[in-house]
Amino acid sequence: MNDIVFATNNAHKLEEARSIVGNRFRIRSLSEIGCHDDIPETADTLEGNALIKARWVKERYGYDCFADDTGLMVDALGGAPGVYSARYAGPECDSAANVRKLLGELDGKEDRKAHFATAVALINGDEEHVFVGKVDGSIACEPHGSGGFGYDPVFVPDETGVSFAEMAPEAKNMVSHRGRAIRLMVGFLDSFGK
Ligand code: IMP
Repeated sequence: MNDIVFATNNAHKLEEARSIVGNRFRIRSLSEIGCHDDIPETADTLEGNALIKARWVKERYGYDCFADDTGLMVDALGGAPGVYSARYAGPECDSAANVRKLLGELDGKEDRKAHFATAVALINGDEEHVFVGKVDGSIACEPHGSGGFGYDPVFVPDETGVSFAEMAPEAKNMVSHRGRAIRLMVGFLDSFGK
């Protein structure tokens, strides 16, 4: 396998994935294959949404590809925002609004434990595989750092004690949910010589 499409146009995710994959194969974005579709994410699981996106690309554009879906699960909120993390503060919301809402919901709560999980769905020829990565941590009381994206300024992995947004991209990749899921996929592809 020399080329694979990552079903995203998120520049941060593309950079993270390219740095993990190195020169094993080339990762192309959705816009690089001429896909500007607003792919529906209608499943109620991360695995389901990742598969919807990967199948969309394979069926309509014909490329082998992988797609990810991520959720932030907060213990004190019963696992919310979970699979709805992207739209937590409303259908048109941005990351700043999501972070504000999250901090508001946790205001005064002592238990700030949370984890990120990512499902990566790979379609390689006629085979489908799903890889899951997870990182445990906690939600800070206020944003810290300027790197990354999404909930990074308020998510503090247990392993590092500083927020994802305060970590260098390579350091985030080493412990992150998506880094772990993508490394599982790369290990799988390597072991089958693909
Ligand atoms: P999606 O899987 O890209 O739809 O992500 C769901 C939500 O989680 C969005 O609000 C993203 O901004 C956020 N998100 C996804 N990955 C990360 C991450 O690595 N760090 C922080 N937030 C993330």
